[in-house]
Amino acid sequence: MLDAGETDEKLLEVNNIEVIYNHVILVLKGVSLSVPKGGITALLGGNGAGKTTTLKSISNLLRSERGEVTKGSITYHGERIQDLAPSDLVKRGVIQVMEGRHCFEHLTVEENLLTGAYTRSAGRGDIDADLDLVYSYFPRLKERRRSQAGYTSGGEQQMVAIGRALMSRPETILLDEPSMGLAPQLVEEIFNIVKSLNDNEGATFLLAEQNTNVALRFAHYGYILESGRVVMDGPAKELRENPDVKEFYLGMSDEGRKSFRDVRSYRRRKRWLS
Ligand SMILES: Nc1ncnc2c1ncn2[C@@H]1O[C@H](COP(=O)(O)OP(=O)(O)OP(=O)(O)O)[C@@H](O)[C@H]1O
Ligand SMILES: [Mg+2]
Repeated sequence: MLDAGETDEKLLEVNNIEVIYNHVILVLKGVSLSVPKGGITALLGGNGAGKTTTLKSISNLLRSERGEVTKGSITYHGERIQDLAPSDLVKRGVIQVMEGRHCFEHLTVEENLLTGAYTRSAGRGDIDADLDLVYSYFPRLKERRRSQAGYTSGGEQQMVAIGRALMSRPETILLDEPSMGLAPQLVEEIFNIVKSLNDNEGATFLLAEQNTNVALRFAHYGYILESGRVVMDGPAKELRENPDVKEFYLGMSDEGRKSFRDVRSYRRRKRWLS
């Protein structure tokens, strides 16, 4: 048997897509990537590289931002998915967890989770079983199930966002910057949960991350985007060892640790200070 992340079945294929915002701003300039079933694939790159745009192209959330895929194709299980409504895509098993955690602040944690089941015609029994599954991965959410989501911590809100996506019983989760604004320990906790969802439930992940270090420790394969193009891709282990990746993205080189300010002009968010 193959380990998770090593299946050959190509689930999601992005072929040479170009994305334009507002009819004029060319943002993706021919991005191709392949997400195997049962794997964790990382999409890496600095601010404005095009990670979120790539995820939204897949989940068909670009239209609401006046963005459009003008070239190339996107297929899921070999079928073109570009013209599907986001909710139809959810029914096919693809869901996006948006950057910045988007919870319904005035609803409780549990009510937020329940909104994730809306595309399904499941009965209450199934839905309760799924809630229990989410709580088994996120015990903290169970403790806080009756709290108003707006008063929970950033880490808990990220858990709510992922938990809500799980309620649609997805096959593939597009996860945008799960580490954003979270302390290192929580980032670790969230990534460990992603890994166990991948190991135990067989969930496939495509995750966008600026935090190259943590993403490459948990992912099987990575793509590095710069200015709307894939500049490098490979198995996560190889990328971690690659001298350019070390220098430019992991902030290390043979001369020792480098600060990100010394590395090109990336202005990274102060992600540990929230
Ligand atoms: N709705 C929009 N209209 C016009 N330009 C946009 C829009 N959304 C994003 N862009 C531009 O597209 C480029 C890519 O943005 P995107 O959000 O995909 O990058 P990202 O890699 O997710 O960055 P970050 O790490 O900061 O989230 C940026 O130059 C951004 O300014
Ligand atoms: Mg982004």
